[in-house]
Amino acid sequence: MSQNRDGFTSTFGVLVATLGSAVGLGNIWKFPYLTGTNGGASFLVVYLMATLLVALPVMMAEIMLGRASRANAVTAFEKLAPKNQKFWTVIGYMGLVSAILILAFYTGVAGWVFAYIFKSLSGSIHSTDPATAKAAFGAMVSNPVQALMWQWVVLIGAGIIIMLGVSKGIEAVAKKLMPLLFLLLVLLCIRSLTLPGAMAGVKFLFAPDFSKITAPVVLTAVGLAFFKLSIGMGTMLTYGSYFRQEQNIPATATRVMLADLSVSMLAGLAIFPAVFAFGFEPSAGPSLVFMTIPAVFASMPLGNVFMAIFFVLAAIAATGAILSILEVPVAMMSERFGFSRKLATLISVGIIGLFGVPAMLSSSLTADWKLFGLNAFDLFDFISSNILLPLGGILICLFVGWVYGLPQLKKQLSNEGQLNNDLLINAVFVLVRYVTPIIITVIMLKGLGAF
Ligand code: PFF
Repeated sequence: MSQNRDGFTSTFGVLVATLGSAVGLGNIWKFPYLTGTNGGASFLVVYLMATLLVALPVMMAEIMLGRASRANAVTAFEKLAPKNQKFWTVIGYMGLVSAILILAFYTGVAGWVFAYIFKSLSGSIHSTDPATAKAAFGAMVSNPVQALMWQWVVLIGAGIIIMLGVSKGIEAVAKKLMPLLFLLLVLLCIRSLTLPGAMAGVKFLFAPDFSKITAPVVLTAVGLAFFKLSIGMGTMLTYGSYFRQEQNIPATATRVMLADLSVSMLAGLAIFPAVFAFGFEPSAGPSLVFMTIPAVFASMPLGNVFMAIFFVLAAIAATGAILSILEVPVAMMSERFGFSRKLATLISVGIIGLFGVPAMLSSSLTADWKLFGLNAFDLFDFISSNILLPLGGILICLFVGWVYGLPQLKKQLSNEGQLNNDLLINAVFVLVRYVTPIIITVIMLKGLGAF
């Protein structure tokens, strides 16, 4: 089976597709809103540290496990773990649960983005007034039919693309559009930064107030770092399984991390100056981007047109990420249970749609359904980002650090000695064997209130 696996066709294709998974609503929607609700600059500092010390080593380890096993996230651990340690496959199964929980709300938010393409063109969201923006967003999310309909548009679209296969489907979509999104974000930043009163937003983003850092804030930053880089749940492992043998894994992971970070920073610089210039609430939560972005566009010439283009690109970025998450259950079902890709896609989309119902009705019919004080939308996000992904990260580190071992790690990350990167590999090894799992464990326990 492994010889016939579809794969990426070029080094550049690998980079862009991996980036296509990393860059998405996490950058444009989640990063700004969490930065806003968790204190601004101080959150950014913690987030940066989490990305470097925790997320980057996990990313390298995960991609490597994929390429070494050329398999989905469950089979990979079956192949690489010693015969009597099959329990490591739990990492793959946890990833399956994360994939479903994430997609239940992520496809819904992608649906809001699709809806905003049309709203941009109709002019109904063209306003710099916080009250109007809030009402427009509220009307959409509290209408059960709209909320579910747009989610299904996304689910069906993604299902169709996935059925077309790995290299054709994913590469083709991801390749073309990233640079354009980047350009539009730069344009947005320029407009936002030149608004009167913009400096307050820059200060919010870059002048840290360390008193705002609490244990739950740190856990949220770690969860975001995992979410942003698509790690801890087997997505990067699955992508790694399509990597070419000569691909430089540490370099690719570092580049993806840096590019992903730049997109987030641009999104932050596009949003926060405008938040303060127009008097929005930085801690508005999931609605922040959907209110602020239209306001920035409304204050530039041809704003409607640019705004529609922006939401088209954001929708495509979201689709790239969605495809990569869907690939986890689809690859698993087709390779493990022998289902056709088509059937595996249909089953996955059906289950996600089912979980999507309570998540997307959280502002209307299911608003009172709460567990631990969280509605379904927030709960699915919390369980996946703040518990399952970091837990997956700990297990991946322990597996690589204590079971897979240094000699194998060296062989893989140096491409059998072809790359001269011994020092780096030793550092990655110390991180994944000791530092990273300990840091994540302490942060998780403290962030969840265990001590
Ligand atoms: N990294 C994506 C984003 O930032 O939008 C979201 C994501 C993709 C999370 C793939 C997890 C994943 F496995």
